[in-house]
Amino acid sequence: MSAEREGGGRARRGIGTRAVHGDGGPRQGPLTTPIVQSSTFVFDSAAEMRRYLEGDPELAFEFYTRYGNPTLRALEEALAALEGAEAGVVFASGMAAATTGILSVLEAGDEVLASASLYGGTTKFVRDLLPKWGMTSRIVAPADLLRLKGVAGPRSRLVVLESPTNPAVEVIDIEAVAGQAHAAGLAVMVDNTFASPFLQRPLGLGADIVMHSLTKALGGHSDIMGGALLGSRARMGRVRDLLKVLGGILDPHSAFLVLRGLKTLHLRVARQCENAMALAVHLQDHPKVARVVYPGLPTHPGHEVARRQMSSFGGMVAFVLRGGLPSAERFYDGLRVMARAASLGGVETLVSLPVHTSHHGYSEAQLRAAGIDPGLVRVSLGVEDAADLIADADAALAGVPAA
Ligand SMILES: Cc1ncc(COP(=O)(O)O)c(C=O)c1O
Repeated sequence: MSAEREGGGRARRGIGTRAVHGDGGPRQGPLTTPIVQSSTFVFDSAAEMRRYLEGDPELAFEFYTRYGNPTLRALEEALAALEGAEAGVVFASGMAAATTGILSVLEAGDEVLASASLYGGTTKFVRDLLPKWGMTSRIVAPADLLRLKGVAGPRSRLVVLESPTNPAVEVIDIEAVAGQAHAAGLAVMVDNTFASPFLQRPLGLGADIVMHSLTKALGGHSDIMGGALLGSRARMGRVRDLLKVLGGILDPHSAFLVLRGLKTLHLRVARQCENAMALAVHLQDHPKVARVVYPGLPTHPGHEVARRQMSSFGGMVAFVLRGGLPSAERFYDGLRVMARAASLGGVETLVSLPVHTSHHGYSEAQLRAAGIDPGLVRVSLGVEDAADLIADADAALAGVPAA
C-alpha cells in the first residue's frame, strides 16, 4: 500500500512504513525499544519533583510506571501513528481498555448505547455492571445505529460498536453511524480489534475513540495480553487520569513484545486476509456447508460497506454447517492443523464454536435473537499455507456425516 493522505491532506507514510517506524525515523542508539523494567524513577532534587507533579511539560522523564513508562510510551506513540491518532494509552488487557474508555465518557445518570454485536465482555460491562454505579445502557441492533436521532435519549452520551463483528462477521458503516451520533450529540467508540489499523482506521471515519485488544493481531503471536485506546490528546488525558487510579497498566515486557509484533502487522494481516478469502471461497461450494460469512464475498450483505471502509476484508471467516452443532463439533474434533482455541489474530489459525465460547449458556431463543446459528464455526486465519488449511478443513469435513 502506498503513502496515503489523512486529515488536512497531509501526505502520510504508508501503513507498512508506519508499522515498522511509526511517524519518526529509526531510533537513535539501540534500534529496538529497550524494556524499561523499573517501577519507579529517580528525581535529581525536590524542586524537580515539584515541577514534575505540577505538570511541567519540559520534563520528559517518568515518575512511576503506573503513571507512565518509556517502553509503554513508545508503544502508545507507535499505535497512535498507525491509527492516525493524536495520542494513545495502553492497558493490561482489551477489557481494561474498553471499561476505562467507557468510564472516561460517562458520568452518573448517563447512558451508553451498545451495538448488539459487541464482544461479550464489553456487553456484560455495560449491561450488568454500569447500572450498579448509576449509569445505564441500551443494547441497540446494528440497523438502529443508523437512525440514532430517533433512538438516543436525553442522557445518551456514547455509542460503542465493533466492525466487523464477533462472531457473526457483520459489517457496520462506521462513517454513517458517527455522522448520526455526532448529530445527536453522542461520542463514538469503535472496537477495531477484528480489523486492525492495517485494514481500517475508524478515527478517519469519524469515530472519537478507537479501542484495541492488543492480545490479538497487534501483538500477533498469542503470547501477551494487552489493550489500547487511541484518540484526541484531550480524551486520552481523561483516560490516563482514570488509568492512574484504576490501575490496569500494561507491563513493559508485554509492551516490548507488542512493539515487536507491530513491525510485521502489515505482512501478517495481508496473509491472513489472503488465507481467509481462499478458505471462504473454497467452503462456499462444499455440500456440508450451509452458509459462509466473509465480507470479501460479494454475497455478504456488508460487502460494499467493507470495500469502502476497509483496505481488505480481514482474517475472520464464519460458516454454518448443515448438521448444526453436532456437525460443528465433529468438524472441530477432526482438525489437525488449525488449533481448537479461543482468541484471534495470531499467526496460528484458531477455530472456535461460538455456542461454546462467546455465546455459552444461551438458550435456542437467545441464540436466534443474537443471530447465532448453533452450527456456526468461527475461524481466525493465521499465516500458514492456504493449501494446508483447506486440506485440513476438507479432511475434518469428510468426518462430518451428511445432513
Ligand atoms: C473484539 C474483541 N474486543 C475485546 C476483547 C477483549 O480483549 P482482552 O481479551 O485482551 O481483554 C476481545 C477478546 O476476545 C475481542 O475479541
